[in-house]
Amino acid sequence: MRLKDRVAIVTGGARGIGAAYARGLAREGAAVAAVDILDPASLVKEITTNDGKAIPMVADVADESQTREMARKVAETFGRIDILINNAAFFASIDRKPFEEITVEEWDKVMAVNVRGSFLCAKAVAPYMKAQKRGKIVNVASGTFFKGNENFLHYVSSKGAVIAMTRCLARELGPYHINVNAIAPGFTMSEALLEKGENADAQTIRSRILKRRINPEDLVGTILYLSSSDSDMMTGQVLLVDGGAAFH
Ligand SMILES: NC(=O)c1ccc[n+]([C@@H]2O[C@H](COP(=O)([O-])OP(=O)(O)OC[C@H]3O[C@@H](n4cnc5c(N)ncnc54)[C@H](O)[C@@H]3O)[C@@H](O)[C@H]2O)c1
Repeated sequence: MRLKDRVAIVTGGARGIGAAYARGLAREGAAVAAVDILDPASLVKEITTNDGKAIPMVADVADESQTREMARKVAETFGRIDILINNAAFFASIDRKPFEEITVEEWDKVMAVNVRGSFLCAKAVAPYMKAQKRGKIVNVASGTFFKGNENFLHYVSSKGAVIAMTRCLARELGPYHINVNAIAPGFTMSEALLEKGENADAQTIRSRILKRRINPEDLVGTILYLSSSDSDMMTGQVLLVDGGAAFH
């Protein structure tokens, strides 16, 4: 129980990778707020049935009034905010295409959720973490940043911004004992991707040192490490969890 008495927010926590993070944090004893534009009720029921603590919250991370209300409600319900996992993103439903074909609307939507959303959630929880003089913010980047994948310019650029934000926030929040780090997962078989019929192809698997599919559960250990006091002397860093496909 590494996270007993801690309170965590997982954005994009209704399903897929975010739900795996929420389950893992609850298993370690944290009270979890699962926040999503989809209703996280069934995940929350699953966690509480297994004696975990969780609440569902429907909110859009790209909207400042909603992220402020999210933080206020979590602090009111559980008394504090120790951990923010900035996992929500516009990802699985993006159409991949050459950069000249990406419209301004598509570009802005990706940036609004992936970049503005992470910024707004950090901004919303910071006052609570600063008052506690303790906190862990884990941003979710992507292995695509290290590879510069083609036909995905808006998404890869947004995850580059998430890494930049991780470094700047680490400097600004470090004096308050708030650690800010990022996880960069490789191509991971999340619910939404499997529903779309996508799967890691032979070439993707060949590109890894560890030659197998990445499942959401493969990322959870890194999230727990970055959320717990095990990582107290680490900040501003990016941990690449991709089976050894890229180095940095
Ligand atoms: N699956 C992968 O291969 C992979 C690889 C690297 C990084 N990632 C990142 O991991 C995270 C999770 O990925 P996933 O595959 O589960 O993605 P996903 O597309 O299923 O989305 C994650 C969740 O975010 C929620 N969401 C979307 N917009 C939102 C908003 N405005 N406000 C609140 N919630 C919102 C969705 O409803 C969904 O539950 C994302 O940040 C993604 O960029 C995924």
